[in-house]
Amino acid sequence: VPVADRGLHYGDGLFETIAVVAGQPCLWDRHLSRLRLGCERLAIPVTDPAQLRREADTLCRGVERGVLKLLLTRGEGGRGYRPPLEPVPRRILSLHPWPDHPSTSWQQGVRIRWCDTPLGLNPRLAGIKHCNRLEQVMARAEWSDPGIAEGLMCDADGQVVEGTQSNLFLWRGGELLTPSLARCGVAGIGRGLLMELAGESAIRVREGAVSRDQVMAADGLLLSNALIGVWPVAALGEHNFDPAHYPRDLLARMMERIHLP
Ligand SMILES: Cc1ncc(COP(=O)(O)O)c(C=O)c1O
Repeated sequence: VPVADRGLHYGDGLFETIAVVAGQPCLWDRHLSRLRLGCERLAIPVTDPAQLRREADTLCRGVERGVLKLLLTRGEGGRGYRPPLEPVPRRILSLHPWPDHPSTSWQQGVRIRWCDTPLGLNPRLAGIKHCNRLEQVMARAEWSDPGIAEGLMCDADGQVVEGTQSNLFLWRGGELLTPSLARCGVAGIGRGLLMELAGESAIRVREGAVSRDQVMAADGLLLSNALIGVWPVAALGEHNFDPAHYPRDLLARMMERIHLP
């Protein structure tokens, strides 16, 4: 990668982290839609999806289980921050081992905590998976206990938004509530899929403002991500949630669906 790449200098780019199962990138169309949305927001020319798919397929061939990271930067150039008028985006595809999360997490639940690092508010960057991830880096540096699987982050106004690498759902009274991502946060592929599956199971899903008090008062919490699928939360700090309350069918359907092409 040339030293002049703007991804390196300014985080001027986008990325997707994609599960690979049996040689196939999972949920490809959804990942590409989010990448396209990011390109439109940042005015980075959209790469031909067929070309990206060919490159992804070549890399994933023969891989039983892994992670494909697709990075798209604005490429080189421009004077200072000012982007070049005719950028030539750079594609970086890399293959990584499957993360060693316990396979039982989705049944037994995980322990999580609160993070202190706040998320800045910027509706123009909200939802897309751009390369500026310093907030998540700072939040993830807040703990080193391997028994804590995730940390929850609030925005600068104190509203709950998401985990450092996952989206959050509150389960209460047989309904799901997930924080609005209009002002910050990443609109996860896992989040979108879980919302659809809940709809198919006639479980109502609302998006809206979520306070810390609402989180603590929930019957349970769920975390979603394109690699893990869904994790029920067994404990947030000292507060335990009763696993018996979780919508087991929905979780099982999500785990079945998340790793399909
Ligand atoms: C900050 C953040 N939010 C949410 C997610 C979940 O996104 P997805 O479901 O697309 O994996 C991620 C994934 O890495 C993330 O980094």
